[in-house]
Amino acid sequence: MKVLVTGGAGYIGSHVVRQLTARGDDVLVLDNLSNGHREAVGIAGLEVMNLADSVALNRILGEFRPDAVMHFAAFIEVGESVQNPLKYYQNNTANGFALLAACADAGVKNFIFSSTAAVYGSPENTPIPETASLNPINPYGFSKLFVEQALGDLSASDDFRFVALRYFNAAGADPSGEIGESHDPESHLIPLIFKAATGERENISIFGSDYPTPDGTCIRDYVHVNDLADAHLLALSYLQNGGESAAFNCGYGHGYSVKEVVDTVKRATGREFEVVDAPRRAGDPPILVADSRRLKEALNWTPRFDSLDITVRTAWNWELNRRY
Ligand code: UFG
Repeated sequence: MKVLVTGGAGYIGSHVVRQLTARGDDVLVLDNLSNGHREAVGIAGLEVMNLADSVALNRILGEFRPDAVMHFAAFIEVGESVQNPLKYYQNNTANGFALLAACADAGVKNFIFSSTAAVYGSPENTPIPETASLNPINPYGFSKLFVEQALGDLSASDDFRFVALRYFNAAGADPSGEIGESHDPESHLIPLIFKAATGERENISIFGSDYPTPDGTCIRDYVHVNDLADAHLLALSYLQNGGESAAFNCGYGHGYSVKEVVDTVKRATGREFEVVDAPRRAGDPPILVADSRRLKEALNWTPRFDSLDITVRTAWNWELNRRY
């Protein structure tokens, strides 16, 4: 199958690209390498380009003629989206629309979109089903939700189907140690704790210890990046088999507190480091846990890495041997 992957040099995209190429798909990655890494795309083709370049986009889609498009390319920092919303609406929303327009011109019928738990905002109930109200609390969440909305409208008006995968907290790395998470600056919890474990940072701050959770720290559903990658391949088969357009939560359905994650990292790495209590980070919901029954039932998703210990160990393996 021919699959065009935007953002395929990034963290989640590269894990999907690896699985697609491993099974023999013809994969072309579009990435401007602003946050992605050339080394991460492996044996897939790579076009270094901006999605805003509609001439190049139309040419590439016309030449490659993909059976499906997977769209990962996006900015992902919630805090930055609050400081600089237009950066997010430009890159995530406007460029997303530009990609959809080019796909429509090229006759692409199947589309898989990287969405986020941030579309739910700060939900009342946990775990969160896909039917929960969509009330983002930051521009990042809105920038993704607008694309989901456009996808829904497009699939209602045209012979076009999509799957939106709403990621909870992506974590871990491919067990090969050849690809993994590498953001600059790093803002995600597990890689930040590693920096404390390696001495690159003096300590790790816990943002808020007074949340209404058992140990007072925020709870998140940390899903291994290879389980996320599996969901993309299943979504592709689902669309190929005529599945209806849909959004699916990607998470395990249970979460860990920040303190539990810190303790797991200490155990898995065998390293000691300083942990500091810090104020709450603005915009952090206390608990984000996926109700992922829809993904399991409709796509037959069977997680292979549902263990925080294994997730942390694969990420640590990458951290110790990282290539980029
Ligand atoms: N945290 C700390 N200290 C740190 C960093 C993070 O205590 O130094 C805490 C956060 O407050 C949060 C948890 O660790 O409670 C996880 O934080 P991350 O920044 O790793 O991830 P988020 O839950 O904030 O972000 C995730 C996705 C986003 C998505 C968001 C939806 O990465 O893409 O959920 O709320 F938008």
